[in-house]
Amino acid sequence: MSQEIQRASTGIPRLDAALEGGVPRGSWVAVTGEPGTGKSILCMHFAWAGLKAGDPVIYITTEAEFRDVMRQARQFRMYFDDYEVHYLGGRPPVRKPQLVVIDIFSLLKTARQLSASVEEIERSRKYAALEIDVLIAAINEAYRVLDLVNETRRSPKRHVRLIIDSLSAFWADKPVMARKYSYQLKIATHRENVTALLVSQYAMTTRATYGFGLEHIADGVIHLWMDDVESVKEIRRYLIIKKMRMTNHYTKALRVSIIPGEGMKLDILSNSR
Ligand SMILES: Nc1ncnc2c1ncn2[C@@H]1O[C@H](COP(=O)(O)OP(=O)(O)OP(=O)(O)O)[C@@H](O)[C@H]1O
Ligand SMILES: [Mg+2]
Repeated sequence: MSQEIQRASTGIPRLDAALEGGVPRGSWVAVTGEPGTGKSILCMHFAWAGLKAGDPVIYITTEAEFRDVMRQARQFRMYFDDYEVHYLGGRPPVRKPQLVVIDIFSLLKTARQLSASVEEIERSRKYAALEIDVLIAAINEAYRVLDLVNETRRSPKRHVRLIIDSLSAFWADKPVMARKYSYQLKIATHRENVTALLVSQYAMTTRATYGFGLEHIADGVIHLWMDDVESVKEIRRYLIIKKMRMTNHYTKALRVSIIPGEGMKLDILSNSR
């Protein structure tokens, strides 16, 4: 039965194997974890696998400038600038883009277009970019730029990958809204041909209120963590697939290594069979 389901490669061979070939197309997958556990690197692999497969990619970055994302990706031999990159809100693309980047600048520009009053934006300038309505408008604009939707067809013809790193930024000052905002976002931008990776950051101490809104609406959850560095005196990272719809996935933790020139690599733990 799993053969009937079309899957999107994550770009990490052992993760694909743990997922019966990859993420089921059309899924929304939350990537959760503490700082430095590898969430952003996982996103880069997913984007790179998409570009190589000919999928248009929408890459939303609130944590770093996309230039820095590209610089980090290059260290793992992923060369995003080999593809046609368009920064939403920037100069109009000459050719059809393969990668649409939505950064803080794009979001601010979208916020200005949405707002009736410029003063309103100026007053709350710093936060205007990080409103959920602004994010929704920017994603829909990216679908249009990619020429993937029209009036009669709501769902893109081609398979599209959407990456949001991170979504927590949109409710950082109001964590109780995480669930409502996640739901709004999913209703407004989910399409059957869009597979999404959505990063949710959280710290151990705030776990209860901070990250779980997204995990409830997600079709899948990939969780990353590390052993307490003070006890083990080194970084030991792990990944586990907590849920994935329509998939008889691997149910044990995998050891994560981040290797120069290669990126994220997963290994089966020696004490698990
Ligand atoms: N070139 C490299 N070679 C080996 N390891 C690297 C390299 N670049 C980064 N790393 C490791 O990857 C870690 C960063 O991973 P990543 O940025 O994916 O974390 P994150 O989960 O997104 O964190 P945050 O929540 O802070 O955004 C670094 O702290 C470092 O340990
Ligand atoms: Mg990150």
